[in-house]
Amino acid sequence: MKCILGILCLLAWRTATAAPATDTEYISTDDFAKCSTEDEHVGDCIKDIINGLIPRLQNGNPKLKIPPYEPFLLNRTSFRYESGAVKGRISVRNVKIYGFALYRAKEVSLKIKGDKIKLRLVGEMPKMNILGNYKADMQVNQLQLKPKGDFNVTLFDVEITTGTEGEIYRKDGKRFVRLDDIDSTPKIGDLTIKANGIFPDPELDQIALNVANQYWRDIYGIILPETRQYWQPLILRMLNESLQQIPIDQFLKE
Ligand SMILES: *[C@@H]1O[C@H](CO)[C@@H](O)[C@H](O)[C@H]1NC(C)=O
Ligand SMILES: *[C@@H]1O[C@H](CO)[C@@H](O)[C@H](O)[C@H]1NC(C)=O
Ligand SMILES: *[C@@H]1O[C@H](CO)[C@@H](O)[C@H](O)[C@H]1NC(C)=O
Repeated sequence: MKCILGILCLLAWRTATAAPATDTEYISTDDFAKCSTEDEHVGDCIKDIINGLIPRLQNGNPKLKIPPYEPFLLNRTSFRYESGAVKGRISVRNVKIYGFALYRAKEVSLKIKGDKIKLRLVGEMPKMNILGNYKADMQVNQLQLKPKGDFNVTLFDVEITTGTEGEIYRKDGKRFVRLDDIDSTPKIGDLTIKANGIFPDPELDQIALNVANQYWRDIYGIILPETRQYWQPLILRMLNESLQQIPIDQFLKE
């Protein structure tokens, strides 16, 4: 599962067995072309760098404080939900997300004005697989439900449009970017949900899943905006932390 494409494995292996790293604690992109912000194709240049780095860093790099993201692990997260006849709390644990290593940036546009930076990124993943345990405490009309079990959600043709704004700052004589805001909209081509423990009776589980799989677009349309306040800051924090190890001088001409 980890090494879906031989090429990615090779890339990861090459990074792992490369000559001992130098003293620098920052990411090195010496083998990529430096992009010129004057160039009207600067977006394509950055796109190539992103697409080169993502598979390469999938197993993480402790020195760069980049956690492994294939799979990406989430220990525990919970959120409250209240809308119409449904309210309650859902928590998920031991979540593993597979697929980020296959992320490909499709369109990148970058604008820099003084120390302000604006980046718009459209990227896609052919497939994402999210596994974990869940536990919920919900009230649907007069009905009290306490489902608990495992879930396995597979998403196909995921396209993520991300707009972000930040500023450039200097540290150790190098330029870095700090992000203040991110706005991310995922679109999904198809989705399948597998889960157990929704009802005590496995046959009822199957019926509920059939309904969920048939109406996933409606469910997704409700869940996505409702949960944005939980996952959007998480993504911002992660990106922001990784960016602290990535001097932009490595790939942008001054
Ligand atoms: C997740 O849980 C593991 C094992 O319990 C622990 O070692 C790790 O530090 C936790 N990670 C986070 C981000 O909380
Ligand atoms: C999760 O579901 C996908 C698609 O149905 C399947 O390929 C995969 O093997 C499942 N994973 C686990 C751990 O059950
Ligand atoms: C982003 O990182 C900077 C440090 O580089 C930190 O000062 C700032 O609070 C972070 N912002 C967010 C929203 O996480």
